[in-house]
Amino acid sequence: MAIIDGKALAAKMQADLAKKTAKLKEESGVVPGLVVILIGEDAASQVYVRNKERSALAAGFNSQVIRLPEATSQDQLLKLIEQYNQDPAWHGILVQLPLPEHIDEEKVLFAISPDKDVDGFHPTNMGKFWSGHPVMIPSTPAGIMEMFKEYKVDLTGKNALVIGRSNIVGKPMAQLLLDAHATVTIAHSRTKNLAALAHRADVLVVAIGRGNFVTKDFVKPGAVVIDVGMNRDENGKLIGDVAFDEVAPVASLITPVPGGVGPMTITMLMEQTYEAALRNT
Ligand code: GUN
Repeated sequence: MAIIDGKALAAKMQADLAKKTAKLKEESGVVPGLVVILIGEDAASQVYVRNKERSALAAGFNSQVIRLPEATSQDQLLKLIEQYNQDPAWHGILVQLPLPEHIDEEKVLFAISPDKDVDGFHPTNMGKFWSGHPVMIPSTPAGIMEMFKEYKVDLTGKNALVIGRSNIVGKPMAQLLLDAHATVTIAHSRTKNLAALAHRADVLVVAIGRGNFVTKDFVKPGAVVIDVGMNRDENGKLIGDVAFDEVAPVASLITPVPGGVGPMTITMLMEQTYEAALRNT
């Protein structure tokens, strides 16, 4: 068994990105700019947004975080997005999810210019991605594909099972695995005989949002196991969706939580902001 060190890979990519950014600035005067909008007080979102800001600044980007109160109206938010859509200094706009209940998430995500949609959530970007012409794609599955590349996981013809069907992770992950020539199954909380299905997988990506959900009886010996989960146990400790201690001895490669998928997600967001800046200069 070997551990996929997402933190180390993210640090390596961040260092490369800082070099590319400095070169871009020197050659064309362009500095990639990322604006992150956070509404309300969600504790996990506060941490994610702080990490995104730190990562953007470390890459040498212009970074702006706009923190607005829970009571912000949908109209106010849409106006703010439009303002940044029009401002050429900002290449990426990210609205942190989840949004308060009185705001229609779809309306907000559709309002972000596809050219600045560094999350890849706009239907234009989703459509391009699903039809095989990706421009901006969701960062978490993009980061997982970088891990497969770094650790030389050949996906061709492999049985891949994605547990979770969100637009942010499960669905785009399945599409990327398909593009890489894996045979892909998407499972979810209502899938029957999930452990038996998982046991046939050579590659298992778990994004179901339940702490320690995948135990060793889900995992075929030698499988590659990717854990997207970020849960808190009863003591407040950060745990994944995979019961790491019992699964690790069975797997050939496995990501830890923390230090696996999380850092890569943020790094891919920065990569996409850089690419957006390049495209729009
Ligand atoms: N909340 C949790 N994950 C994400 C993400 O990838 N993007 C945004 N915008 N919000 C999130």
